[in-house]
Amino acid sequence: MKEKRKKSLNSSQSLTNSPVLNTEALPYHVAIIMDGNGRWAQKRFLNRIKGHRKGAETVRTIVRTCREIGISILTLYAFSTENWERPRSEVTALMALLKKFLESEQKEMLENNIRLNAIGQIERMPEDIQAALHQTMTVTENKTGMLLNLALSYGGRSEIVRMVREIAKKARDGEIDIASITPALVSENLYTRGIPDPDLLIRTSGEIRISNFLLWQIAYTEIFFTDTLWPDFTKEEFLQILNGFKRRERRYGKIES
Ligand code: FPP
Repeated sequence: MKEKRKKSLNSSQSLTNSPVLNTEALPYHVAIIMDGNGRWAQKRFLNRIKGHRKGAETVRTIVRTCREIGISILTLYAFSTENWERPRSEVTALMALLKKFLESEQKEMLENNIRLNAIGQIERMPEDIQAALHQTMTVTENKTGMLLNLALSYGGRSEIVRMVREIAKKARDGEIDIASITPALVSENLYTRGIPDPDLLIRTSGEIRISNFLLWQIAYTEIFFTDTLWPDFTKEEFLQILNGFKRRERRYGKIES
């Protein structure tokens, strides 16, 4: 389904909640690489899992903020294909946090008109997580206020390989002509089919790289890096970034007319 570019809340409603935010020219789709949970914990001589737990609280704050101010799509990099290589105890803890999040936030998603979607190799996730995801996606499928898109066991390169295989199969089976392979067709064969590309990508924790996230989709995305570790990322800093986004001129390779 093609998402419509439509604000879910009007500007005056949003402004009452967030005095520092200029709601004109808000990004339609925000994507976030939530990095720094481990370092946040290490700095406090805590187990890394405590950092992830605090990071899950930040997820709640940012989801609420997005809904409140009228962001239409929020994509969160919650677990990468590379994250499977982490110690088993950490992977298990992350899965448990995710399950808890799905259970505890479902009511709020329903009340706040939020639809859940997941992108990535969902089939690699533990069965109980898959069941919780499908259940939440099913009960929220008609919600239209905001799309919360969780990237789980996600990797941009494997997404591209999967897309190439899909298109190659269709060409082999005579369903499409080679000449009809266009950027639009590529987009339609990615996990993010029907979802417009992110307008804004934020990465926390001071690392200046993309780490295999939405490689195709961020061709024209504005990117903001912040040194703040994800558990310390606040609504206020998020609003500042949104104001900064507004000041950037997006030309998509063209010149001003
Ligand atoms: C990066 O921090 C973060 C992750 C690998 C996972 C993100 C998970 C959460 C924010 C919590 C659970 C998610 C949801 C949706 C409830 P890192 O461990 O790589 O930090 P480091 O680079 O400092 O080690």
